[in-house]
Amino acid sequence: MKVPFLDLSGQYKEIKKDFGLAFKEAIKRSDFILGKDVGIFEKDFAGYSNRRFAIGVNSGTDALFLGLKSLAIGPGDEVIVPAFTYIATSLAVTYTGARPVFVDINEDSYNIAVDKIEAAITKNTKAVIPVHLYGHPADMQPILEIASKYNLKVLEDTAQAHGARYKFSDGRWAIVGSMGDIGAFSFYPTKNLGAFGDAGMIVTDDEAVYKKMLMLRDYGRSSRYEHVTLGFNSRLDTVQAAVLRSKLPHLDKWNDSRRKNASRYNRKLKGLGSVITPKELGYARHVYHVYGIRVKERQRVMSELAKNEISTLIHYPMPLHLQEVYKNLNYKKGDFPVAERVAEEVISLPMYPHLKPAQINFICDKLKEATK
Ligand SMILES: Cc1ncc(COP(=O)(O)O)c(C=O)c1O
Repeated sequence: MKVPFLDLSGQYKEIKKDFGLAFKEAIKRSDFILGKDVGIFEKDFAGYSNRRFAIGVNSGTDALFLGLKSLAIGPGDEVIVPAFTYIATSLAVTYTGARPVFVDINEDSYNIAVDKIEAAITKNTKAVIPVHLYGHPADMQPILEIASKYNLKVLEDTAQAHGARYKFSDGRWAIVGSMGDIGAFSFYPTKNLGAFGDAGMIVTDDEAVYKKMLMLRDYGRSSRYEHVTLGFNSRLDTVQAAVLRSKLPHLDKWNDSRRKNASRYNRKLKGLGSVITPKELGYARHVYHVYGIRVKERQRVMSELAKNEISTLIHYPMPLHLQEVYKNLNYKKGDFPVAERVAEEVISLPMYPHLKPAQINFICDKLKEATK
């Protein structure tokens, strides 16, 4: 049985009609740049995220980069970032001229280890970027407490976690992106909410950030012919907004399907000593952008699965502090042992809303054979 890593055709079939309509309307209007659908999607997504403002940009990387710039982060500043995430998180910091300062991760959630943040803070630290990696929320309450104690901005990297929720100690649930100063989303096609190309968005309650972002994404414009800040061309395309707008009402249902698929995987792999399955910590509502397991002898296990036409990937084989691009930061192997161990062991199994129970059963059977 062939199992692709990701198959979006089921999703496409399910809402083909809505896409068609949205596309047709956008093309008829031909308002391709900052057109009607951008405004509608921004409003819808701000509502979904429980935020006052949403500003569409052209990628998740730009959402992080421009978000940091709107918080006035730049040369001489330091920004705390987990050592284990997609490299876009730290690249966005580097683009501003600030320095990313890496912190190890928690072995259970694969998110930033909150008990290691304070030791990384210096007089130059201006912000922290918790990443809700794989769709599991970072432990936001202690992060917000530390940020408030040291007067740091908090920019949530929500690229992998659309619709995930975090529970505060008073029992209140908050959607990711609504807790820090800014939430930065990617709508890269494979994400839980994905466009038909590159797209991103920031959400915030801060009107000053909102106004700055409107300029930063559009050449630093204050009016048609006046440019008051060093802005960029980073607008969300109208046709992408039309796609995203038609998909948004389905996001929670698709996340529920991912959660069901994750439960089936967990059930089937239970008791298999050689496989560590993902955890959902007490404060978390995971949305399983990635279903990441850990095994020893990863290469052999992946090859066995590949022989059975099961596609897998690795998110991510090398932590950020060991990437060549960051050689100048002078980190070395051994600095972040948990990130390094997880990077050596993790495998992402196929995960998408329309994955079938029979496919999951097949993957688990083959995984059992490969790890026994
Ligand atoms: C955690 C994380 N941050 C940022 C990004 C960057 O998003 P994009 O690819 O839309 O620039 C991604 C996605 O690739 C990501 O997974």
